[in-house]
Amino acid sequence: SVLEMEVEQINKGKYEHYMQKEIHEQPESLTTTMRGRLIRGGSCKAKSVLLGGLKDHLKTIRRSRRIVFIGCGTSYNAALAARPILEELSGIPVTMEIASDLLDRQGPIYREDTAVFVSQSGETADTLQALEYALENGALCVGITNTVGSAIARNTHCGVHINAGCEIGVASTKAYTSQIVVMAMLALAIGDDTISSQARRGAIIDGLFDLPSKVKEVLKLDQEMKDLAKLLIAEQSLLVFGRGYNYATALEGALKVKEVALMHSEGILAGEMKHGPLALVDETLPIVVIATRDACFSKQQSVIQQLHARKGRLIVMCTKGDAASVCVGGSSRIIEVPRVEDCLQPVINIVPLQLLAYHLTVLRGYNVDQPRNLAKSVTTQ
Ligand code: G6P
Repeated sequence: SVLEMEVEQINKGKYEHYMQKEIHEQPESLTTTMRGRLIRGGSCKAKSVLLGGLKDHLKTIRRSRRIVFIGCGTSYNAALAARPILEELSGIPVTMEIASDLLDRQGPIYREDTAVFVSQSGETADTLQALEYALENGALCVGITNTVGSAIARNTHCGVHINAGCEIGVASTKAYTSQIVVMAMLALAIGDDTISSQARRGAIIDGLFDLPSKVKEVLKLDQEMKDLAKLLIAEQSLLVFGRGYNYATALEGALKVKEVALMHSEGILAGEMKHGPLALVDETLPIVVIATRDACFSKQQSVIQQLHARKGRLIVMCTKGDAASVCVGGSSRIIEVPRVEDCLQPVINIVPLQLLAYHLTVLRGYNVDQPRNLAKSVTTQ
C-alpha cells in the first residue's frame, strides 16, 4: 500500500536501500554495541570491559578446555574474524563449526567445552538445533545475538546482545561488524589481566574507542567503490585473498558479492594459493588482495608478487600510505584504508567490500535488500 511504502521511505531516511543505510550507520551501531561496556580506567583503574550477561560465567569459561564457535553464513565469518584474538588473549584452543556440519557429523562436544552460538536473528534453524545438541552434551552455552528474546538468546546459559539495532537487508552488514566487536570484547573479558598483557589489552581497548571514527573514515571510499563496481559490472567472477585476521574478511567480502550482486565470488586463504587457486589466475580474472599491515604483511607482499608474475589483475587493499609498499612486481588498483589495532582491522576492511557489493548489485540491476532465493532468517532445514 501507499502507506507501507511511505513508512518504508521514512525508515530508510535519505538512503535508497536498507543495505546501504545499514552499511552507512556502522559508526553508530558500533557505538551502541560498545556503550557502557568499555572502561577506559582512571589513575587507579585498569582499562577493562564489562559484559553483564557473562559475568557470572566468566570463571567457568576461563576453565573450559576449548571454546567452540558455532554459526552460519555471516555470523560464522564474524566468529572466524575474532578467533585469533580470542586464542591470543585466552590461551584456550578455539575451534570453528558451521552449525549444519556439526550436526551432519554429530561432532564431539564435551562438558568441558564452552560453545558460543553466533546468530544475528537468534532463530536460524541449524544454529538452534546445534544449541540443543550442545546442551544435551553438557557444554556451557553462550549466545551472541542481535535479537532480545530470540530462541538462541532464551535457550543459552548466558550471552551478550550485540545491540546493533534492527537489520533489515538480507545481507548482513552492521551485525557483522558488531559481532566482531562483541567477540573482541569477549576475548578481553576472558583473558587474564596480567602485567605482560596490559599494553596489548590497553591498545585494543583504545582501538575499540576509536573504531567508530575510523569506520566513518573508511566509509568515505563510497564513490571509489562505486567506480570500482563500474569496472567490474560485467565480470563473471571475483576472487578475494586474505590471511590471518583477514581470512574472514576474504570469506565475508566474497559472500557479500555472491549474495547480493549474484556474481560468483570466492574468499581464498592466501596461504593456500599454490594449492589450486593459482591455476585460475590470468590477465582477466579480477582478484582482491587484502594486504593491510599486520604480522602477515610480508607474506602478503610475496603473494602479490607471485600473482603479478602470473599477470594477475589485482586490486590491493592496503593501509593508508602503503601504496608503494604493495606495488611489488607490478601495478595494481589500490584501496587505502585507515589503520587500526591488527585484531580490529577486519571491522575496517570489510566496509569497502560491503560498499563494492552494494554498488555492483545496484549497477547490475538486482534486488539489494532481498536477493533472489535468499531469506533473512533461515528457519527451516
Ligand atoms: C541467512 C542470512 C545471512 C545470515 C545467515 C545466518 O543466510 O541471509 O545474512 O548471515 O542467515 O543468520 P543468523 O541470523 O543466524 O546470523
